[in-house]
Amino acid sequence: MILERQNLMNIKQISSDLERELAGKPFGSANIKKLQNLSQLYQLYQAGANEFGTKLENLDSEFQVNYDHNPIHHMEERMKDVQSLLNKLIKKGYDLSVENIQKHIFDVAGIRVVTNYIDDVYLIEKILLSQSDVTLVRCKDYIKNPKPSGYRSLHIIVSVPVFQSTGSKSVNVEIQIRTVGMDMWASLEHKLRYKTDIDSALVEKYGAKLHSYADELAGIEGKMQHIYQQLSDYKN
Ligand code: GTP
Ligand code: MG
Repeated sequence: MILERQNLMNIKQISSDLERELAGKPFGSANIKKLQNLSQLYQLYQAGANEFGTKLENLDSEFQVNYDHNPIHHMEERMKDVQSLLNKLIKKGYDLSVENIQKHIFDVAGIRVVTNYIDDVYLIEKILLSQSDVTLVRCKDYIKNPKPSGYRSLHIIVSVPVFQSTGSKSVNVEIQIRTVGMDMWASLEHKLRYKTDIDSALVEKYGAKLHSYADELAGIEGKMQHIYQQLSDYKN
């Protein structure tokens, strides 16, 4: 299993990104002052993501040793870029401030955990939540209740204490857990939805196909899970 850390933030880069972003928007320089602790905030969220990355790596390697099974296929970790962060805050109608980011934006730090089987999704959730320093903030189960598009994934917002020189701070991290099949589906559907130059009739046609493939994939992954279980339980 590999943990792929995507666009890790160069903390110094954040301030210049911020100035550039705000310069083009009608908020004025007052906002730059309100957001001047953004670099520190990103460092804190990065540390939170690192804590969960390590927890998940340890969980997978323990299962490898004790049960000859790797629940995690691979993981991706990413920090939200400054531009999307500010746009999200504006879209939600909040003033630009570090406090509002901490209170209202839950996916500054995100980890996507891609599992081999469906049971592994819930196994990982259960084990993470059983750890004494982890708190569940919010849970959206799009596997039990798929989105209208057919999207499936388990999204949990979890918090963990990060120990800094001045004491401990609780940090929220969004963890999306889904199978290899769900992940493959989401990547393709994402392409369809974000390609703005595709004809709308085609988007509708492919969207409908993808919706039915999502159901088929869920069926096949369930059957493969069953075979895997039988083989694991098989004693000769
Ligand atoms: P936002 O984070 O503001 O979008 O709101 P939210 O936190 O309520 O969002 P949600 O939990 O529904 O999921 C957000 C993330 O899940 C998105 O950034 C996507 O990565 C993914 N996602 C949600 N719905 C879909 C979908 O229909 N198709 C695909 N491909 N991805 C989706
Ligand atoms: Mg979100």
